[in-house]
Amino acid sequence: MDEGPNYTVKDIRLAEAGKLDIEYAESQMAALMKVRERFAREKPLKGLRVGMALHPSKETAALVRTLAAGGAEVSLCSCNPLSTQDHVVAALAKEGITVYAYKGETKEDYYRFLRKVVEHRPDITIDDGCDLVSEIHKNHPELIKGIIGGAEETSTGVIRLKAMEKDNALKYPIIAVNEAKTKHLMDNVKGTGQSTIDGILRASNVLVAGKNFVVCGYGDCGKGVAKRAQGMDANVIVVEVDPFSALQAAYDGYRVMPIREAAKTGDIFVTVTGNKNVINIEHMKTMKDGAVLCNSGHFDAEINITELRKLAKSRKIRPYMEEFSLGSKRIYILGEGRLVNLVAAEGHPSEIMSMSFCNQALACEYLAKNRGKLKPGVHVLPDEIDDGVAALQLEALGIQIDQLTEEQRKYLSSWQEGT
Ligand SMILES: NC(=O)c1ccc[n+]([C@@H]2O[C@H](COP(=O)([O-])OP(=O)(O)OC[C@H]3O[C@@H](n4cnc5c(N)ncnc54)[C@H](O)[C@@H]3O)[C@@H](O)[C@H]2O)c1
Repeated sequence: MDEGPNYTVKDIRLAEAGKLDIEYAESQMAALMKVRERFAREKPLKGLRVGMALHPSKETAALVRTLAAGGAEVSLCSCNPLSTQDHVVAALAKEGITVYAYKGETKEDYYRFLRKVVEHRPDITIDDGCDLVSEIHKNHPELIKGIIGGAEETSTGVIRLKAMEKDNALKYPIIAVNEAKTKHLMDNVKGTGQSTIDGILRASNVLVAGKNFVVCGYGDCGKGVAKRAQGMDANVIVVEVDPFSALQAAYDGYRVMPIREAAKTGDIFVTVTGNKNVINIEHMKTMKDGAVLCNSGHFDAEINITELRKLAKSRKIRPYMEEFSLGSKRIYILGEGRLVNLVAAEGHPSEIMSMSFCNQALACEYLAKNRGKLKPGVHVLPDEIDDGVAALQLEALGIQIDQLTEEQRKYLSSWQEGT
C-alpha cells in the first residue's frame, strides 16, 4: 500500500496509466466537460468541501475533477470494496485530490476510509448506496448541522434514505440523483444492461446464445440486462415479485416464473433487485451442474453465498470466478456476488456516466445555491436541471430537435379546443 499526506492507494506508480485512462473517459463525456467549463468560470462550489463515497472509476475521476474545477475541495473513498480502479485513484492522488481506496479493501479498511472522508467535515456528501450518510448519522451526528446536503446515486441508496426519512432519522436534505430521467432511464437501463453482460463475459467467457438466462428483478436495471441477453440469442426468463413489472416482462416477450422454477432450468443467473437472499441455498441445490451466478444489484446480499460457503467446497478458478461443489455438481459465482459489472469489468461506459455525473455536479450546485432552504428529507432534481442534462447530451451527440410553435404551446395548455 502507498500512503501520502492526502492518500492511501495500492500503487502510486500507476498514476500515469490512470491519467491516460481518465483522459480517455473524458473524451467521451462531452456533456460533463461543458458543465466543467462553466464551473471553472463561475466557481459555484467555491470554499465547499465535498465528501464522496462512489465507485472510484475513471468516470468518477472525471466528476471529481469537475467539482474541483467548480472550487470544491474533494475527498473520495469507495462505496464497494472491489470496485476501485487502482491506476485511477493513483492519478487522482498525484493531482492532489484526497483519496483513500484500493481494489480488494478489507471490511476494516472500507469503514476506516469512509471515516477518513467524514473527518474532512464535508459540506456536501455524495453517496452511492448511502453508506456515507449512514456513517455520519450513526457515528458523527455532531457534523450534521454543518452539512448543506447530499446527493445519492443509486436505487438501493434511495430506498435506504426513504426508510431513514420514514423513521424521522434523516437529518439533512438529500437529492435522489437516481430519480432523474437522464440518470435512471439511461444509466440503470443502458449502462447496467451493457456492463453486466460485459462483466459476465470477462469473468467467465461463457456463450450466451441458446442459454436459459435468468434475470431476477425487472426494474430499470433488469430491463436493460434482459434486453441485451435476448439480443445475444439467450432464452430470457424473468423472476419478479411485483405484478406490474412481471406483466411488463411477459408482454416484452420473456418467460416469467418463480425462482424455484427458474432455478431448475437456468444456465446463467443475474440478480438486480436491491433485495436480499433472492437466490437462496434451496434454489442452488436444484440448479443444473455448471450454472453461472452473478449479481449486479448494489449489495452482495442478493445471492446467499454465506450459506453456500457453509455447505460447499470452493476453489478460485479464474480471477473473478469461484467454483462451488455442491454434492456432485458445480456452481460458479462471479465477482464474489458483488456488482459484477464493476468487479469483473469497468462499470458503465463513460458516455453513460457523463449524464449521471452531470446530474451529480448540478445537484451539488443546486444544494449550494439553496443552502438552508431545503428541508431534511429526500428531494428530486428539478425538471429543468434534468431536461438541461438531456439537452447537453443531445448537443454532445450533434442531434437537433424541434421547438414548439407559439400556437402549439397555447394548444397544449388550453382546454377549450376540442374536435
Ligand atoms: N450494477 C450497477 O452498476 C447498478 C446501476 C444502477 C443500479 N444498481 C442497483 O441495482 C439494483 C436494482 O436497481 P433498479 O434501478 O433496477 O431498481 P428497481 O427498483 O427499478 O427494480 C428492482 C426490481 O426488483 C424486484 N424485486 C425485489 N425483490 C425481488 C425478489 N425477491 N425477486 C424478484 N424480484 C424482486 C422489484 O419488484 C423491482 O421490480 C439496486 O440495488 C441498484 O442500486 C446497480
